[in-house]
Amino acid sequence: MAATMLAILIAIFVFACSPPPLVLAADEDMLQDVCVADNNSTIIINGKVCKPMTAVVAEDFKSGLLRNLGNTSNRLGSVVTAANVGNFPGLNTLGVSFARLDYAPGGVNPPHVHPRGTELLFLVQGTLFVGFVTTAPDNRLFAQTINPGELFVFPRGLVHFQINTGREPAVAVAGFNSQNPGVSQVAKAVLGSNPPILDAVIERMFQIDNALVKRLRELVSMT
Ligand SMILES: *[C@@H]1O[C@H](CO)[C@@H](O)[C@H](O)[C@H]1NC(C)=O
Ligand SMILES: *[C@@H]1O[C@H](CO)[C@@H](O)[C@H](O)[C@H]1NC(C)=O
Ligand SMILES: *[C@@H]1O[C@H](CO)[C@@H](O)[C@H](O)[C@H]1NC(C)=O
Repeated sequence: MAATMLAILIAIFVFACSPPPLVLAADEDMLQDVCVADNNSTIIINGKVCKPMTAVVAEDFKSGLLRNLGNTSNRLGSVVTAANVGNFPGLNTLGVSFARLDYAPGGVNPPHVHPRGTELLFLVQGTLFVGFVTTAPDNRLFAQTINPGELFVFPRGLVHFQINTGREPAVAVAGFNSQNPGVSQVAKAVLGSNPPILDAVIERMFQIDNALVKRLRELVSMT
């Protein structure tokens, strides 16, 4: 009996001394069933304004945005078609979005981050080599070849990429725990910002001369 009491007291003590639980949050919790975005409103309150409930129709919750094969005839040989709150207003406040990714053989979805969402990719067809890199100081690469039916997860905010290593076109779909995960391509953010980051910064960053900075900017602008 005393031993049981002691065990309970120890458990309470350990619980009281433990750090607060880790908060794993993505988008805000919703405060109503649905909040279909009013695409005409220019007001943004950490999300979009809801259209009146009386104006909401079943079609608001359906989207054909990912129906078609993406056109991969570009320098990267890949295209991402996104269905997020920007073009699918029914997703507003629901904390999820989706994308379709098409890759030509050898096609690359270059290193990028999603600042607001973790991505769970499902390979439908083809073969991809995919990976993400953890933050400094380790900058550890976790990469794998994936085959149809397999999943790979890219944690929120970490730099990641995919390349089609197969001989056929590849098709993947990806879910995000954000209605608007956002995307920032590393090369474009660093070398193609508007206005440009000072050349002097890029020169020191890569330890290269100005001519090479100009050349890199030119190459990145073509993708
Ligand atoms: C947005 O504007 C269009 C064109 O004026 C109109 O047809 C549509 O009903 C409006 N949508 C909402 C949600 O008010
Ligand atoms: C795909 O994109 C290329 C380059 O923009 C274009 O020339 C071609 O017509 C497009 N193909 C289709 C099927 O839309
Ligand atoms: C909402 O408006 C944006 C910006 O004008 C447009 O790009 C988008 O296609 C619109 N979405 C819908 C579902 O009408």
